[in-house]
Amino acid sequence: MTRISLSLAAAGLMSASLAQAGEVEVLHWWTSGGEAKAAAELKATMQKKGHTWKDFAVAGGGGDSAMTVLKSRVVSGNAPAAAQIKGPSLQEWAREGVLANMDGVAKAEKWDELLPKAIADGLKYKGNYIAAPVNVHRVNWLWANPEVFKKAGAKLPTTWDEFFVAAEALKKAGVIPVAHGGQNWQDFTTFESVALGVGGADFYKKALVQLDAGSLKGATMQKVLETFKKVKGYTDKNAPGRDWNLATAMVIKGEAGMQLMGDWAKGEFLAAGKVPGKDFACVAAPGTAKSYTYNVDSFALFKLKDPANQKAQQDLAAAIMSTDFQEVFNLNKGSIPVRLGMKLDKFDDCAKTSSADFVASSKAGSLVPSIAHGMSVPSAVEGAMKDVVSQFWNDDKMTVAQAMDKLVGAAKTK
Ligand code: BGC
Repeated sequence: MTRISLSLAAAGLMSASLAQAGEVEVLHWWTSGGEAKAAAELKATMQKKGHTWKDFAVAGGGGDSAMTVLKSRVVSGNAPAAAQIKGPSLQEWAREGVLANMDGVAKAEKWDELLPKAIADGLKYKGNYIAAPVNVHRVNWLWANPEVFKKAGAKLPTTWDEFFVAAEALKKAGVIPVAHGGQNWQDFTTFESVALGVGGADFYKKALVQLDAGSLKGATMQKVLETFKKVKGYTDKNAPGRDWNLATAMVIKGEAGMQLMGDWAKGEFLAAGKVPGKDFACVAAPGTAKSYTYNVDSFALFKLKDPANQKAQQDLAAAIMSTDFQEVFNLNKGSIPVRLGMKLDKFDDCAKTSSADFVASSKAGSLVPSIAHGMSVPSAVEGAMKDVVSQFWNDDKMTVAQAMDKLVGAAKTK
């Protein structure tokens, strides 16, 4: 080949790769220590493919602020390439006609074979994939500081009765028994673990998935609400408004004994250099060892006009489901891979328990969607129920009977 044709060929190659390099703007709310490390892995993956990463992080655990910002961006016709959206909200966004069809990527990468069917179905609208999943978080966990427990002579609880015995012992030892952040999604995270532990999986499904009025108002719900309110007595006066990761930090530092939180909390312990089984313990929330509240993070992909950005978006979707990414991301995030058949040798015992319990609960019919984390009911109902539960938590004048009536009302929100 002559010198000229060589350089022409090189120029051709260059313009081909330039034409392919696009920008992905990604909206997420992963801003705490562990979350940010996990998000950085996604950014690095995209940059390795030659694309530009435009970070669209909106701080705020549980994602309420992120969703508000997203709505205004989409309404003004300026959607990002991808946004952290999950559960029934995916269908709500798809109905607006703003999400892209990712079937090309999904077919090429065999997503139907690599995902549990129930999860895959939730990522499709009218049979087409509209989102890519990153993980499975378990919500019904209790995180504890073993050294603090030892000093207080307390035992890790497996029932709610034992929980209150441990909480009393921790209190007597001069530590805050329960690290809590008074924000409505955190209140509800505690509430749904109490509901699962006190009422069991069938009750949870009736009350918090099917929204059955007889279960939202009845003897079991009464016990759930009483137990939930009793937990509050073991939180500290600075809990209102506290971010979840600051509550985790209290357990890490030994200022508090335990926290009820999903396994993104593990990301915080790990980011602080703590070792599972030694510096911190993960046990199922009291009474829920045989059940599993799942929360699957996924990215909805929005319709884009620019072909290079569309290509970058498809690369993002493919990368998210790759074995390399599923491993490194979830090692940092505290969750487990959503992709089936992955080796877990690099994962710790909390993750291995989570994975085994996911499979076992799925077989036993005790795998339930987290309502606090947007997996269970339409977003308007979820918001209304969260408001009731937080009102009950905060207002000592509100009775259990009033709270139950309000829950029944909230379930009817359109
Ligand atoms: C998300 C997690 C996130 C957590 C706290 C949950 O709803 O699923 O990915 O770490 O909120 O921000």
